[in-house]
Amino acid sequence: MSTFWSWYISILTIGSLIALLWLLFATRKGQQPGQTNQTLGHAFDGIEEFDNPLPRWWFMLFLGTLIFAAGYLLLYPGLGNFAGTLPGYEGGWTQVKQWQREMDKADQQFGPIYASYAALPVEEVAKDERALKMGGRLFASNCSVCHGSDAKGAYGFPNLTDSEWRWGGDAASIKQTITAGRTGMMPPQAAMIGEEGVHNVAAYVLTELAGRKLPEGETADIAAGQKIFASTCFACHGVDGTGTPSMGAPNLTKPSAFIYGSSFAQLQQTIRYGRSGHMPAQLQYVGSEDKVHLLTAYVYSLSQKQPVEEEKLARE
Ligand code: HEC
Ligand code: HEC
Repeated sequence: MSTFWSWYISILTIGSLIALLWLLFATRKGQQPGQTNQTLGHAFDGIEEFDNPLPRWWFMLFLGTLIFAAGYLLLYPGLGNFAGTLPGYEGGWTQVKQWQREMDKADQQFGPIYASYAALPVEEVAKDERALKMGGRLFASNCSVCHGSDAKGAYGFPNLTDSEWRWGGDAASIKQTITAGRTGMMPPQAAMIGEEGVHNVAAYVLTELAGRKLPEGETADIAAGQKIFASTCFACHGVDGTGTPSMGAPNLTKPSAFIYGSSFAQLQQTIRYGRSGHMPAQLQYVGSEDKVHLLTAYVYSLSQKQPVEEEKLARE
C-alpha cells in the first residue's frame, strides 16, 4: 500500500472513532433527577417525546465498543501499513502466520506420537486403539470425500472395509496406494471384440464368474463369451478372472466389490467403453510419511474387523 493510502485509511479510521466518541458525549444528557419527565415539546398524533438520558448501560456499551476498536487497531493490522503489535507475531499478525503457529504446535505435540507409531509395523499399529482414533481423524479429513466417511466407497470409489482389493490389501500395497496414488486402466474393448462380443462376454462374466443370472428375457452365447474372455480379458483379469493386483485389474468373481455396477447393462458399458479410475497421490496432502503410516494402519484395520460380512455389502 502506498504511503498516501496508508495515511488516508489511518486518518479516516481514527478520525471516525474520535468523531463517534465526541458524538457520544456531546449528545449525552446528564441525569437530572426530578426533571426526567420533561418532554421535548413536540407531539405527533398525540405521542410526545421524553427528554430522558441514554440508559447508563447503553452508554457504557457504546463506550466499550470504542475502547475495543482502539485495542484491536493497536494489536492487529487495520491502520494502513501499521502491522499491529500482537505479542508473538514478529512483523504483525496474519492468518497465515496464525495457521502456521497452530500447525507447528500440533507437530510439536503430535509429531513424537506419530514417530513412535511409525517405528512399529502396520499390523501392530492397527491393534492400537489410540492410533486408530488418530488414523480415523486423518481419514475423515483426507479420504472421506471420495471413499465415504464409513470408508465403504461409492460408485467409482472402492469399498475399503471389505476383503477385496484391486491393488492388494497387505500393508505395503496399501501404503503404496496412499503414498503414490493409483490409476486403473481398462481400455475400451468394443473395437476389438465387436458389439456382439461385448454382449456375450458380459453375460459370461455375469453368470459364470460373478455367479448371477441374466436379466429376464435376455439371451447370450455364453460359450462364445468364454472364448473372448480366454483370448482377451485373461491378460489382465487372470485366466480364472480373479484379477491382477499389480495392474489394478479387479477380481470379477466378487460382484459385491465392483465399483462400476454389476448389472448386465453396467457390465456391458464397462466392457464397451473401458474404465479408468484415478486416485491422486496423497502423501503431499496428508503431510508426512509418519501420518501415511498411521493411515495405512487405519485402512488395514477396517477390513480385519468384518472379513465375512462383505457379501452383505453388495451395492448394486
Ligand atoms: C489391459 C488390461 C485389461 C483388459 C484387457 C481388460 N480389463 Fe477389465 N479392467 C482392467 C482394469 C485395470 C480395471 C479397473 C479399472 C478401474 O479401476 O477404473 C478393469 C475393470 C473391469 C470391470 C469393472 C469392475 C468394477 O469394479 O466395476 C469389468 C466388469 C471388467 N474389467 C471386465 C473385463 C472384460 C470382460 C474384459 C475382456 C473383454 C476386460 N475387462 C479386459 C483391466 C483390463
Ligand atoms: C479424489 C478421490 C480420492 C481420494 C481423495 C482418495 N482416494 Fe483412494 N481411491 C480413489 C479411487 C478412484 C480409487 C480406485 C482406483 C482404481 O480405479 O483402481 C482409490 C483406491 C484406493 C485404495 C485401493 C483399494 C483397493 O481395492 O486396492 C486405497 C487403499 C485407498 N484408495 C485409500 C485411500 C486413502 C487412505 C485416502 C486418504 C489419504 C484416499 N484413498 C483418498 C479415490 C480417492
